[in-house]
Amino acid sequence: MSVRIAVVKETAVGERRVAATAETVRKFIALGATLAVEAGAGEGASIGDSAYADAGAQIGDRTAILAGADIVLAVQGPDPASLNGVKPGAWVVASLNPFGDRARIDAYAAAGLEALAMELMPRITRAQSMDILSSQSNLAGYKAVLDAASEYGRAFPMMMTAAGTVSAARVFVMGVGVAGLQAIATARRLGAQVSATDVRSATKEQIQSLGAKPIFVENVKGIEGEGSGGYAIEMSPEYQAAQAELVSAHIAKQDIVITTALIPGRPAPRLISDAQVASMRPGSVIVDLAVEQGGNVEGAVAGEVVVRHGVKIVGHRNVPSRLAADTSALFARNLYNFLSAFWDKDGGMPALDDEIGGAIRLTQSGKVVNPRLLG
Ligand code: NAI
Repeated sequence: MSVRIAVVKETAVGERRVAATAETVRKFIALGATLAVEAGAGEGASIGDSAYADAGAQIGDRTAILAGADIVLAVQGPDPASLNGVKPGAWVVASLNPFGDRARIDAYAAAGLEALAMELMPRITRAQSMDILSSQSNLAGYKAVLDAASEYGRAFPMMMTAAGTVSAARVFVMGVGVAGLQAIATARRLGAQVSATDVRSATKEQIQSLGAKPIFVENVKGIEGEGSGGYAIEMSPEYQAAQAELVSAHIAKQDIVITTALIPGRPAPRLISDAQVASMRPGSVIVDLAVEQGGNVEGAVAGEVVVRHGVKIVGHRNVPSRLAADTSALFARNLYNFLSAFWDKDGGMPALDDEIGGAIRLTQSGKVVNPRLLG
């Protein structure tokens, strides 16, 4: 007996990523799995059907690849109604947006599928290599800086030319998680003068070690800002007021602002008001990486680049998809690292442990089972 893994072509608008690469197909086959990839699945990530076929996968239309599948791999959760033909109780392993798209999760349960939400992977050392939020945020942070640079009508590095000197861009990164750290490093590599802020005081040293200047609220109650799993918590009103004041003074002097601030399970915190946007000099650029979670910046619009008070506010959707070849490679490895860690050498389904299985499993035996969805 061998586990049959089906890799579907993404259907969401603008989604260019794919959940497997030729490399992960080969590795799964080496574990003893059978792989079936939907025709055209890798197109957006520059992976042709022949690359998957050469790696040993069967290529076919959706009906053919799903027939008898034990595990369906996807980047974004596929429509449950489009998964006919899989085995009863088959796993759907993807980024499933459980808090934003509850109806779909209920439909997975009703269809008897076992839905595993990769974005709920616990932040524990042994799961780092399975963490899609990290792998995708990392590249999103990099791309945010490039998007800012391409919208900016000036250069990033200081340049001394015969015609005079071009001054370095000032870049301010708000939210120094995985995306923010990469944004700092990228902006530094491009020669900008970089500063950064976060509510978690642990990030101060990380900012300094990347050669950037930390901008932090001091001497206000509740300054720690760190909750469980290293995530941020919502801050006290005193803190928010002090942060707004500090940031106002700083932002007015910046050319580029990259915002990445998120609080798990809550709308993104509002970090920049319209008045603060207006205080920046014309031609400045703000990139709001949290735009799809409600936005850190007043006036940011998901899917658009808008101009307010002469400042461009960039709100691209699905930034990881803008680097689909690399983000797919990392996403695919996250999936492989996860499934292979629990692989059954005798050809049965992988057996998840409670710590990881309990955290990411949303549905099982016809029911929604995840405590975070039952609460
Ligand atoms: P995230 O995407 O949830 O949030 C981005 C950043 O925004 C965070 O640094 C957060 O503190 C910050 N933020 C929230 N509210 C803010 C506000 N009002 N003002 C300014 N900043 C604000 O964070 P991400 O990137 O997922 O990282 C969260 C933590 O998880 C980090 O400590 C990271 O090192 C840790 N981590 C641990 C992993 C593991 O052990 N497996 C894997 C990846 C990350």
